[in-house]
Amino acid sequence: MAKEKVKYVCNECGQSSLKWMGRCTSCGAWNSLEEEIEIKVKGSKKEIKDIKAYTCDGDKVEDDFRYATKLLEFDRVLGGGLVKGEVVLITGNPGIGKSTLLLQASNEYTKYGKVIYVSGEESVSQIKFRANRLNIESSNLFIINETEVSSLCAYIQKAKAKVVVIDSIQTLYNGNYDAIPGTPTQIRESTLEILNLAKGNDISIFIVGHITKDGKVAGPKLLEHMVDAVLNFDGEEGNFYRILRSQKNRFGSTNEIGIFSMENDGMKEIKNPSEFFLSEREEKNIGSLIVTSLEGSKVFLLEVQTLLVASNFGLPRRLVQGFDKNRLEMLCAIIEKKMGFSFAQLDIFLNIPGGINIKDTSADLAIVMAIFSAIKEVEVSQKIAAIGELGLRGEIRKVSFIQKRLRELEKLGFKGAYVPYANKEEIEKEKYSLKIIYLKNLLELMERMK
Ligand code: TYD
Ligand code: MG
Repeated sequence: MAKEKVKYVCNECGQSSLKWMGRCTSCGAWNSLEEEIEIKVKGSKKEIKDIKAYTCDGDKVEDDFRYATKLLEFDRVLGGGLVKGEVVLITGNPGIGKSTLLLQASNEYTKYGKVIYVSGEESVSQIKFRANRLNIESSNLFIINETEVSSLCAYIQKAKAKVVVIDSIQTLYNGNYDAIPGTPTQIRESTLEILNLAKGNDISIFIVGHITKDGKVAGPKLLEHMVDAVLNFDGEEGNFYRILRSQKNRFGSTNEIGIFSMENDGMKEIKNPSEFFLSEREEKNIGSLIVTSLEGSKVFLLEVQTLLVASNFGLPRRLVQGFDKNRLEMLCAIIEKKMGFSFAQLDIFLNIPGGINIKDTSADLAIVMAIFSAIKEVEVSQKIAAIGELGLRGEIRKVSFIQKRLRELEKLGFKGAYVPYANKEEIEKEKYSLKIIYLKNLLELMERMK
């Protein structure tokens, strides 16, 4: 006898409760409980499966095979291509270009065999229209407009597809459950079936996931734990370029980013992002400097801009774009203490143009120098970058991958770099065409910038 049961499931943590509450008792999220009606079939006997265990006997297995595309940046963010049987979740705001990018990638994967593009969001003719626009023509690329997950999985398995795109997970449903598509149960159950399909048949699958207003993946948190990789596709409103970022990757490094631009005929990769972010600059500037930021395995050159203005309020403002506000406050405190300067009457604006959020602490030195240049109104060269982390005693600390950073500066025609003295030994192992200026602490920096 089938019995109907109503429960409320938190779409943040997956905790279920018998009654609705404004706040989840497990994770504390507000307004995250959604009603779910579940059919439980009582009395059916559970089947006990035969399980096979394997030993690690040194048998040679096929090398970690990866499917490649012509979009090298896309492959790099995946960790060097798409692994056989890998499940990748791609999230991003509506209209950012997820479907476009995945359709282009699907076309590339057809050289390995059948590729199936499942769309619950657009009609077959809409997708074909897009494929025309992207100049895609392949008899190995199939489009499906079905959203019942079990039927889909059965079809995909029979078709022996190599790569599948599910656009999007929020449109799928499992006919055994009464809950509507997009609810935590449906997302969980659909993902489970897709995972089994991928792992059991070595099919690589991309899953598109919508995100909520605050930028989280819509649906249970579980979704992110279940898949092999989570990529986020992001971009600034009104801007043509997009950033693909790996947040989790079982087959590659995280924080890897790739830059694309949205053109009339699809996504194009931007191979040299440093050049791209650094265009339109003068030789010298007040309040801005170049930093080397390590994003995943790649070094990006970015500009930090600061502006100091007299504050009109009792509490001065600190407005930060692309950097951690708390870290800026810490850097200001160090400047106040070590340089004898007061920010009490000043609003501080810090901006990293281009939409990238710098997490690399080696940007500290450049930010301090940019602020210092703004205070003193002295121009700083835009051809000399600054690399170094700042300690609370005002000391400039060693940074990682210094050689890689200096090589990137060299490649882009920089004249020199301020670097931590602590990195000297490592730097002197190689030759650079850059003028290297070593700094031990803020006092030395003040001397230089007088
Ligand atoms: P889309 O891939 O549908 O985004 P998502 O799947 O993330 O919602 O992209 C939609 C936008 O991209 C739409 O505003 C039109 C634009 N676009 C281009 O600029 N060039 C193109 O070649 C294509 C196909 C779309
Ligand atoms: Mg889409």
